[in-house]
Parts: sequence; C-alpha cells; structure tokens
Amino acid sequence: MTKTIRPLLAGNWKMNGTRASLDQIKAIADGVKAPLSEKIDTLLCPPATLLYVATALCDDSPLAIGAQDCHQQVSGAYTGDISAEMIADCFGTHVIVGHSERRRNHAESDMLVRAKAQAAHDAGLIAIICIGETAYERNSGQTLDVLKRELIGSVPDGATAATTVIAYEPVWAIGTGVVPTSEDVEEAHAFMRAELIERFGKEGANMRILYGGSVSGANARSLLDIPHVNGVLVGGQSLKAVDFLAIYAAFERQFA
Ligand code: 13P
Repeated sequence: MTKTIRPLLAGNWKMNGTRASLDQIKAIADGVKAPLSEKIDTLLCPPATLLYVATALCDDSPLAIGAQDCHQQVSGAYTGDISAEMIADCFGTHVIVGHSERRRNHAESDMLVRAKAQAAHDAGLIAIICIGETAYERNSGQTLDVLKRELIGSVPDGATAATTVIAYEPVWAIGTGVVPTSEDVEEAHAFMRAELIERFGKEGANMRILYGGSVSGANARSLLDIPHVNGVLVGGQSLKAVDFLAIYAAFERQFA
C-alpha cells in the first residue's frame, strides 16, 4: 500500500540511560542517514537529564530529540516537573504525553494529558499523544470505545497534522514481546483515522498514527505494511543503536 504521510520512527528510552549511553545516541544520530532520512522523520526521547547534551550531539544529524513528559504549566511551584518551554529551551522538538505508564503510575487523566499536549503546542513542540487499551478492556470488548474516549479526551481542539502525533500503544503489548495481530492493529488504526477525520477534517486525515508495543527489527516491516500505520514508537529496542537502526532500515520497504 502506498502511503503519502511522511512516517515517524520514535524511540522512548523511559527511565533508562546515563551519560554512558550517550555513545548510543551518537551512533543512532550517525546511522540515520540519507537517502532514507530524507523520507522519514526519526526521533529519540532520552530521559530529561540527557536532553540538552543529546540535542548537541545531534546537531549534524536529522535525528530529532524529544522528552517523555511535560507539565501543563509554563513554570511555577511544581517540584520535580519540567515544562514544555524547558524542553524547547534544550532544543527538544517533541514531547510524549499520556504514555500509559504515566496514566497508570501517576494517575494521569485524559483531561490532564490534553492540557499537557496544549502546553507542548504552546511551546512550539510536537505532542505525541499516547492512547491504548488494557488487557481487561480488550478482553471485554471495549477497545474501540477506549480509543474513542481517549482520543476525544486527550487531543486538544487545535491539533493539526504538523503539531500532533497519535501513538496507539495497547498496554498489554508494552514490554511483553506480545504484538496484536495485523488485523487488530489495522482495525484500531482505521478506527482512529476515521475518528480523527471526523473531528479534524483534512488535518485528521494527515495526522500520523504510530503503533507502539514490543516493536523490533523482526516485526517492524509487517507493522509498517498495515494501512494507517504511519510509523512506530519503540521502547526497549530503541536503547541500543544496533536495534534501533534495524528498525530504521525496515522503513526502506515503504519506499521500495
Ligand atoms: P516496548 O517497545 O519496550 O514494548 O515499549 C513500548 C513503549 O511503551 C514505547 O513508548
């Protein structure tokens, strides 16, 4: 299937990585090369402690650097939090919001995620808004209802294809090695696409929808073949350059 939306390969390091890991970021930055890098966007989201150094390392690379979360306010008495403005100040260009680990471990609601995405937009960042059902929700037939509710609740009204990326991450597929069937991914992505078009029109038609959850070099090609999969959000397999670059290479087929 020919896809016209420019894809995005994004890596989320979660709470992994110290200065010793900077050589992996450098190796990824060096490995993301033309001609493929002219056709796809690549992004790495290391922990906030490495953000500023990482952006400097990627100065001469198409690899973009982003953060994994931001506060909804610009500044203030919010001990331990970082604002979207601070991320932009470190030359970060993207921020992940509403990851299921934050929704679960920090009780983040759709309303809060939406406010964070809005803060990202206000700071000039691209917001990667994560949604996805739990195993219980899938097994009880609620998957599409959950996706609809989270899309409506978490995506700000002014979202455009340039400022917003949706990441579909079934919670039960994260870090488990279990990936949904192609049919299940296709159904979810087609459903999200229809919902986005209904709400955002042409912008919704062009918004990128990533798949995330146990993506690897071995399964990336078949995931990228699925209609309305416009890239992937990678956890564990983004930590080592060799693994991340194997996924990068898998994008070649989309343009073959
Ligand atoms: P894994 O690729 O380790 O399953 O993690 C996916 C994820 O949560 C990315 O945000």
